[in-house]
Amino acid sequence: MTEYEYDRDRRIAWWREARFGMFIHWGLYAIPAGVWKGRCIPGVGEWIMYNARISVKEYEKLTKRFNPIKFDAREWVRITKDAGMKYIVITAKHHDGFCMFDTKYTDYNIVKATPFGRDPLEELREASKAEGLKLGFYYSQTFDWHHPDGMGNDWDYDLSKQNFARYFREYVEPQIEELLTNYKPVAVLWLDITTPIPELARELRDMVRRLSPETIISGRIGGRVGRPATLSRGLADYISMGDNQIPDRKIGDDWEVPMTLNDTWGYKSYDHNWKSPGKVIQILVEVVGKGGNLLLNVGPTAEGEIPKPSVDILLEVGRWLRINGESIYGAGAAPLDMPNDAPYRFTYKPGKLYIHVFGWPWDGELRIFDAEGKIKPVEAYFLEDRGYGGLTYKWSGRDLVIEVPEKPLDPIDTVIVLEEG
Ligand code: GLC
Repeated sequence: MTEYEYDRDRRIAWWREARFGMFIHWGLYAIPAGVWKGRCIPGVGEWIMYNARISVKEYEKLTKRFNPIKFDAREWVRITKDAGMKYIVITAKHHDGFCMFDTKYTDYNIVKATPFGRDPLEELREASKAEGLKLGFYYSQTFDWHHPDGMGNDWDYDLSKQNFARYFREYVEPQIEELLTNYKPVAVLWLDITTPIPELARELRDMVRRLSPETIISGRIGGRVGRPATLSRGLADYISMGDNQIPDRKIGDDWEVPMTLNDTWGYKSYDHNWKSPGKVIQILVEVVGKGGNLLLNVGPTAEGEIPKPSVDILLEVGRWLRINGESIYGAGAAPLDMPNDAPYRFTYKPGKLYIHVFGWPWDGELRIFDAEGKIKPVEAYFLEDRGYGGLTYKWSGRDLVIEVPEKPLDPIDTVIVLEEG
């Protein structure tokens, strides 16, 4: 094991156990909420400045209207915990360049430029600390449509005159240094897209390691999204999958997928395409069963509230997790695969195979296919203790047949534990 691997193992231990985190996209874009000058702008909410080609001058005016007086850090932390999520990653600076924290490198920040005048990241830091929740920051290191040298804004700036390295060294790195020192401890630094110049990515990584060795760096610091290369080059601590992309099969390296609850990250007033709680539970099981973490997003409103439909879904998921959390936290991929069309999924801990039954058998016999004879059960029982005790099972060819009652204990996902000898 290299020194880097050794450090990474220690850094990432809590994250492997956590499995489920809350992503928060919050910024000025919550004000237009997907509508600009009476037009519904297609695309994700936080990209409205780009998608509607809003000039820096015009977009800046939003600061005067940003006064999220309903924001309550303790309430957000409570929702996160009730949802069974173990960490928060919130946007410190998104592509629009607006800073949601106090910074001395620009006045374009929530404390100095808005009537609100408070620092939500500091308030979240305190609330998370009090509740023992991990807090991390999303920071857009590459795109910055507000900064003359940041990438992506060709409607205000002449891109050929830009000096990206200057922006990176004189703005991005100092701001990340502020985040790492003023908002300690920073559990995760969630960089996005990729850093176009590898030398700068390495420089940033070295700085983070020096200032805050415990901070986990997301896979999007560099290289291609979803590829393990960044991990093996020692740039990132885990692989970040593409948005909403769950890999086809299990992956041996640490990985995470960011996922939307509807079809946007930043709040959009007219996006009601919510995933059901059952869908979210199935996604979580799928992700953990492939060895990954799920970072599930909410997009708070301009008043500072997590939208009610999101909260309702998350609380349902949290209810399921309170009963079945053992099969998720610290669990990972099972040593055996299931047929793709199987009505169940596996998660696993040494000595315990968790069978998540999504489709309940109509004939009282749950058949688990084990092609290679990997299951060696000594006991089977429901994870939810309803007094059923041990379940009867027998082998029929390569099927392990478990006798189950007529109805599932939980219509979304009833978990059966197989203990191995
Ligand atoms: C994409 C988008 C960005 C969003 C992110 C979340 O990279 O550009 O708006 O924050 O995905 O994973």
